[in-house]
Amino acid sequence: MTQKHTAIFDPGNSSESVELPVLSGTMGPDVVDIRTLHAKSGMFTYDPGYLSTASSSSKITFIDGAKGILLYRGYPIEQLAMHCDFMDVCYLLIHGELPNNAEKITFDHAIKEHSMLHEQLVRFFSGFRRDAHPMAVMVGVVGALSAFYHEAMDISDAVHREQSAFRLIAKLPTITAMAYKYNIGQPFIYPRNDLSYAENFLHMMFSIPTEEYKLNPVIVKALERILILHADHEQNASTSTVRLAGSSGANPFACISAGIACLWGPAHGGANEACLNMLEEIGDVSRINEYIKRAKDKDDNYRLMGFGHRVYKNFDPRSKLMRETCHEVLNELGLHNDRLFKLALELERIALEDEYFIEKKLYPNVDYYSGIVQRALGIPTIMFTAIFAMARTAGWVAQWSEMISDPEYRIGRPRQRYIGEEMRDVPSEFFRK
Ligand code: CMC
Repeated sequence: MTQKHTAIFDPGNSSESVELPVLSGTMGPDVVDIRTLHAKSGMFTYDPGYLSTASSSSKITFIDGAKGILLYRGYPIEQLAMHCDFMDVCYLLIHGELPNNAEKITFDHAIKEHSMLHEQLVRFFSGFRRDAHPMAVMVGVVGALSAFYHEAMDISDAVHREQSAFRLIAKLPTITAMAYKYNIGQPFIYPRNDLSYAENFLHMMFSIPTEEYKLNPVIVKALERILILHADHEQNASTSTVRLAGSSGANPFACISAGIACLWGPAHGGANEACLNMLEEIGDVSRINEYIKRAKDKDDNYRLMGFGHRVYKNFDPRSKLMRETCHEVLNELGLHNDRLFKLALELERIALEDEYFIEKKLYPNVDYYSGIVQRALGIPTIMFTAIFAMARTAGWVAQWSEMISDPEYRIGRPRQRYIGEEMRDVPSEFFRK
């Protein structure tokens, strides 16, 4: 980051104005470096929801929300989705460059080496209620990985960090599939290292001991695309959670578990599940206007799931790709008359022509179509967010690792605008001693 010029902050009272450096990145808006503001002026900045705050410097992902651009390490998401597989993308996010053939073979091998879970960890699953949401299981089991790798958890050691990153990427499909098998009461299926990452996940989800799951290339390709599109997304809520948890020096398994917990919310990764439930609830094209009316009503906090994004204000490039995949998958699987897909297309058309959605720049996001694609792949709704977490683990570990090796890294410690009571004495009637 280079310093460009300075910004003058004028507190507006009798205090002197403060000069602050303005830093520029490779692309994107410049940032005002306010680190000395409090020391110089005694004031904090106030930015609930971080609408104008860059929390870190990062080389991993770039988003231009106005232009609908998403780059991983400089490469457009469209090109990565068309020409690369998920392992390429994981390598790229972690190492900064795409792997050559030899690097790819070594990386694939290193990930596969870690795909099994310790048998004691497998027994963890039976502690959950059998109808537990898979995300609840994942928060617990991923956090529990912390208890198994004491010998390789020195976060100041780059080799340990890499090993933890590989373990997390490798074990997430196994944990995710086991969370599903546990939920439906089927025996766990162990990973197979002769399969690709996406194939292996489908095998663990859908094989049963009595019958081998036959991999369909259309389904494998669609899952690969879902994984690539969800792999990273700059400093979103769950990634910021991972970074904040990691900033205290917490171990990577605990940090990723925190990220999974954050992702679960319906405003974030839980939106794909919420979106499909919404489409089911609307049920028929004739009821769309009723739901649009609710979403626009100021006195009703109802929102159209899968619409809107904090950063994308024209279109979400992932949503365009996912919509394409949706068409492809439904056509190839003979589901082109799918009721929910037709409903989704009509809801999108009506919303995009509606003044409210135009004015507020609310467009379908990636989760609008990812639920329909996953449903067509035979993945149950309850698993949608878990699959998002599996994909996002690649981004989380890359972001965590980048933060730990950043010389500017400090514990994350926001301040506040206090609006509670002023200092007061405890009344004598409450004295207990
Ligand atoms: N339906 C109806 N109104 C909406 C919607 C929606 N989906 N999203 C935002 N608005 C309205 C909101 O009520 C507010 O109106 P007003 O200005 O009158 O108060 C205005 O638009 C701005 O909303 P906001 O909550 O301040 O915007 P934000 O940038 O803080 O929130 C969001 C972004 C994604 C949380 C929000 O658009 C939302 O809740 N969408 C639905 C959930 C969803 O699809 N989430 C998935 C996000 S993409 C996957 C991911 O990266 O995690």
